[in-house]
Amino acid sequence: MSATITTASGAKFARILSTGSYRPERIVTNAEICEHIDSTDEWIRDRSGIIERRYAALDETVVDMGAAAAAQALERSGIAPTDIAMVLTANVTHPYPTPSAAAEVAYRIGAVNAGALDIAAACAGFCYGIGIANDLVCGGSAKYAIVIGVEKLSDWTNPKDRGSAFIFADGAGAVVIGPSDTPAIGPTIWGSDGSQKDAITMTQSLIDYRNTGGEIFPALTMQGQQVFRWAVSEMPKVAGRALQAAGVALVDLDAVIPHQANMRITDAIAKALKLPSDIPIARDIAYTGNTSAASIPLAMDRMLAAGEIPSGGTALLIGFGAGLVYAAQVVTLP
Ligand code: COA
Repeated sequence: MSATITTASGAKFARILSTGSYRPERIVTNAEICEHIDSTDEWIRDRSGIIERRYAALDETVVDMGAAAAAQALERSGIAPTDIAMVLTANVTHPYPTPSAAAEVAYRIGAVNAGALDIAAACAGFCYGIGIANDLVCGGSAKYAIVIGVEKLSDWTNPKDRGSAFIFADGAGAVVIGPSDTPAIGPTIWGSDGSQKDAITMTQSLIDYRNTGGEIFPALTMQGQQVFRWAVSEMPKVAGRALQAAGVALVDLDAVIPHQANMRITDAIAKALKLPSDIPIARDIAYTGNTSAASIPLAMDRMLAAGEIPSGGTALLIGFGAGLVYAAQVVTLP
C-alpha cells in the first residue's frame, strides 16, 4: 500500500527583504593594471568604463567577503540567523571544489539550521540564486533564504593578460529572501549555451596544470568580442522576456540592474531596450570593476544607499556570463 506523503507548502509570494555588501579596501587603479600590460588608463576607460576596481587582501577569502555581506543583509532584515533555511553562495572563485563556500558562510553568520550550497553560474549566479530562493520560499522548502554573490577574481586573473586583466575585481553582495503578502519576484527567465563554453573559460584545468608541471597558474581567459556580441544581441531579448513574464512595462521600471560586465555592454543594452533616460541603469562598474556574481547585489546595495533607486520600487535584474549562461527577473526592491 502506498503511504500518503505530506508535501511542503510555502508562501504565496516571496520578496527581497534586505541587501548587504562588502567592498575590499584596496583600490587598484588603471595605472597599476598598466604596470603589467601594454595599455593605458584612457584605453581601459574608453573600452570598459572602468576607472578603478577593488582587490581583496592576499589572505582575504571568498568566505570572508561573503560572510561580511551576508551578515550585513541579515542584520538589516531583522531575521534571526537561526531562521535562515538555505544559504546560496553564487561564485566561481572559491578555491576548494569541496567543501562549499556556502557551508562555511552559513556557519560564520550563525545560520546553523540552514542548508548550504554554491551556485556555479558565473556572472549570472546571483540571478540564478534569486530564482531558486524564490522557489524555495514559495515551494515551502525554506521560510527564509540568503543569496550571496561573491568573487575573488584577482586570484584567477593573469595580470599579464591584456584581454582580461583590466576587467575583473573582487567583492560581495547579499540579499535575504522571505515570504511576502504581495507579488515581488517575477518569473526567472534563464538559459545556457554550452556550445560557447570557450568564450570565457580557464587557460587550463587544475589537473592539467598539475600533470604538466605548468608554470603559469590557470587563469580566466576571454574571447572579448564573442562575449560582447552575444551579450549585446541576446540580453535585450532576455530582458524583454523577463518583463513580459512579470507583466511589467519597461516604462514602469524604477531601475535596471544588469551584470556589470562592461560599461559598453550596459550602454548597448540600454540602447537596444530604448530605456527612457529617467530610468536609472546601474553603472557601478566604473569604481568596482567586473565582480561577476557579486556585481548585481553590489550595485543594488550602493544605488539604494545613495538614494538613486527607491526602496519598494521595481527593478529588472539581468545576469550573463561564462557558460554561456544567463538569468533575469523583475523584482521589488527592498
Ligand atoms: N589595451 C590597449 N589596447 C588593447 C588592449 C588593452 N588591454 N587589448 C586589446 N587592445 C588592442 C588590440 O591590440 C587591437 O589593436 P589593433 O586594432 O591595433 O590590432 C585593438 O585594441 C582591438 O582589440 P580587440 O581584442 O578587438 O579589442 P576589443 O575592441 O574587442 O575590446 C574588450 C576588448 C575586452 C574591451 C571587448 O572585447 C569587450 O568589452 N568584451 C566584452 C568583455 C566582457 O564584458 N567580459 C565580461 C563578461 S562577464
